[in-house]
Amino acid sequence: MVDDIGQHKPGSDGVSLLEGIRTTRAIRRLKPDPVPAGLIRTVCEAGTFAPSGGNRQPWFFIAVTEPERRAWIAERYRPAFHAYIAPALEAAKDPAFPEAKRRNIRAALHLADHLHEAPVHLFVAGWTRRGEPQHQALFPAIQNILLACRAVGLGASLTTLHRAHGAEIDAFLGLPDNCPTCALLPIGWPEGRYGRPKRRSVDDCLQFERFGA
Ligand SMILES: Cc1cc2nc3c(=O)[nH]c(=O)nc-3n(C[C@H](O)[C@H](O)[C@H](O)COP(=O)(O)O)c2cc1C
Repeated sequence: MVDDIGQHKPGSDGVSLLEGIRTTRAIRRLKPDPVPAGLIRTVCEAGTFAPSGGNRQPWFFIAVTEPERRAWIAERYRPAFHAYIAPALEAAKDPAFPEAKRRNIRAALHLADHLHEAPVHLFVAGWTRRGEPQHQALFPAIQNILLACRAVGLGASLTTLHRAHGAEIDAFLGLPDNCPTCALLPIGWPEGRYGRPKRRSVDDCLQFERFGA
């Protein structure tokens, strides 16, 4: 079992933390080749270093790798995603629709139609608090996992549309009612490359002292 991020970095190009952050985009085209359990452990360990309220660390990570179980999950994700994306697909028929958004939709559709082939379906779940899901307590861990995937050369993306069948999927994973899933990260070896995603410039987002000053 490989358990040290520094020891096992297949595909990693040894970039700095900041450059890794800048180049961690959604990788939705994945090879079906298996991912060693030690690497899954490594990226989940990165998740455990995330901050959480009161340091409660409410997260659990469930890696589904068996093909029949992945197929069962994909059968639920696919129609949920198609229903979600239908209005955007309609809008994308307009020739003026931005090409970058069209590419994004195509990649997300590809993932939905090929989810069963992604070798790892990594679910992030967490304890509820006072009866409410604590998704905000899980997203720092999720982002750490995405960055760790980038560090070891794995492709990953953040998805949440499995929640359309949330209770059924949570039961399938054997989770108790007070520990629902928040996200599903399909993980595998990337078909493409990491690279800078399209983002607003920081100069459009950052202001000192007051908004609009
Ligand atoms: C809260 C949240 C939920 C998301 N849910 C989905 C999802 O269900 N399916 C999907 O393909 N992408 C999902 N995404 C990923 C975004 O679509 C993705 O971050 C965006 O397209 C930017 O991609 P890029 O990093 O490659 O530029 C989600 C992102 C966030 C932050």
